[in-house]
Amino acid sequence: MSDGMNGMPNMMSIEGGIPLAGTVRAQGAKNAALPVMAACLLLKGQTLTLDNVPDLQDVRTMVELLEALGVTVEKEPQGRMRFSVPEEVSPEAPEAQVRKMRASSLVLGPLLARGGQAALPLPGGCSIGSRPIDLHLKGLVQMGAKIEIRSGVVYAQADQLRGRRIYLDFPSVGATENLMMAAALAHGETIIENIAREPEIDNLAAVLGSMGVPIEIEGTGCVRIKGVSEVHSGNERVIPDRIEACTYLLAGVMTGGQVTVTDVVPAHFGSMLAKLEEAGARFSVRRDAVTVFPAERLQSLSLKTMPFPGFPTDLQPQMVATLSLASGVSMVEESVFQARFLYAEELNRMGANIRIKGNTAVISGVRQLHGDDVKATDLRAGAALILAGLTASGQTRVGEMIHVWRGYEAIDEKLRSLGARVELITEETK
Ligand code: UD1
Repeated sequence: MSDGMNGMPNMMSIEGGIPLAGTVRAQGAKNAALPVMAACLLLKGQTLTLDNVPDLQDVRTMVELLEALGVTVEKEPQGRMRFSVPEEVSPEAPEAQVRKMRASSLVLGPLLARGGQAALPLPGGCSIGSRPIDLHLKGLVQMGAKIEIRSGVVYAQADQLRGRRIYLDFPSVGATENLMMAAALAHGETIIENIAREPEIDNLAAVLGSMGVPIEIEGTGCVRIKGVSEVHSGNERVIPDRIEACTYLLAGVMTGGQVTVTDVVPAHFGSMLAKLEEAGARFSVRRDAVTVFPAERLQSLSLKTMPFPGFPTDLQPQMVATLSLASGVSMVEESVFQARFLYAEELNRMGANIRIKGNTAVISGVRQLHGDDVKATDLRAGAALILAGLTASGQTRVGEMIHVWRGYEAIDEKLRSLGARVELITEETK
């Protein structure tokens, strides 16, 4: 088996059972960085500067995609990236990057808005369920685009998008983002109702605002965007990664350690803190840092994933790993994606007792997990298995780390700085 992408080792070995202790800083949010990077495509002969961009495989994929379209990307120290966009860019998103990463579909809205046409190979399904982009396309059609799908490629065309009132049938994060970017260069005002309320949406609104687009998010789940004829150079800081931050907090909780995560916005993960409190975890919250403390064994609980401010689906696997050690039976219902429990079998190999019934995981808490060889089935599943490995007895080896590098910057170094015994293993090429 070969290494992960970009030569990153594809396996992590973990000696479990060490209570973690110390402080880590949250990285910039993957799910904020990807859309705001795509937003640079609205520019012509201008530059977007972003700070706090995390060093992740998905970010590298978006850089490759933007470069393939004609954008020049300069990386500076400390997560600053500068995107210089020429007057003309290619309207065709290259298949290689779109296949690698579904978020590549975020270039559709801005490409269409700036050049009147765009082609996007359909991103297809992935291991957490089918993920259509029908809501993105429906909104673009309402704004006047003609859409055709031929041989698995979406061709969109519109000489001039027109501002419209759009109601999203579901508060899709990606559809909200794509339509906000399209609306920035549309003629007239666009009002999108039932938008996603994830903090990453506010980050994108701030980027569009910095590029001169009048944009206002209303508390009622609605955004108003006044289209402009052209945007200008802008700059913004990527918000902290709430999912990564919570993963380290759960690592502290699971190992019975004391872990502080800094550079966070605690209001971005209120649902997780509420659930931790309900389960009996001990923690303290400051303005931009959260610390978890050793506590008694957690109590079981029920939760359901939902769009923000509900409990995030991207934390569901890590929370299930945590609850696998709680006393009693927990129920975790997945309501955002169809098939996000593939990893449960891997946790069961390590001694967890999780049964999947439709969209619900029924977790009977056990006292102890034991190390085993397991495989990450997707990004957050990989994080859950690493958490399990940190608290399991003996050695755990997590394969298919390729998924984890998509979203966790230097996870091995960060865990080591908290005292964990983890090593990356480069497998022999067969
Ligand atoms: C984003 C996040 C992802 C997170 C998800 C939900 C990024 C890069 N990724 O993904 O990590 O898990 O939000 O919080 O930000 N749907 C449709 N039709 C559409 C669009 C979505 O049916 O046109 C469905 C999807 O199949 C899924 C659900 O809506 O079941 C949520 O999708 P969406 O909110 O769009 O998530 P993404 O933007 O893909």
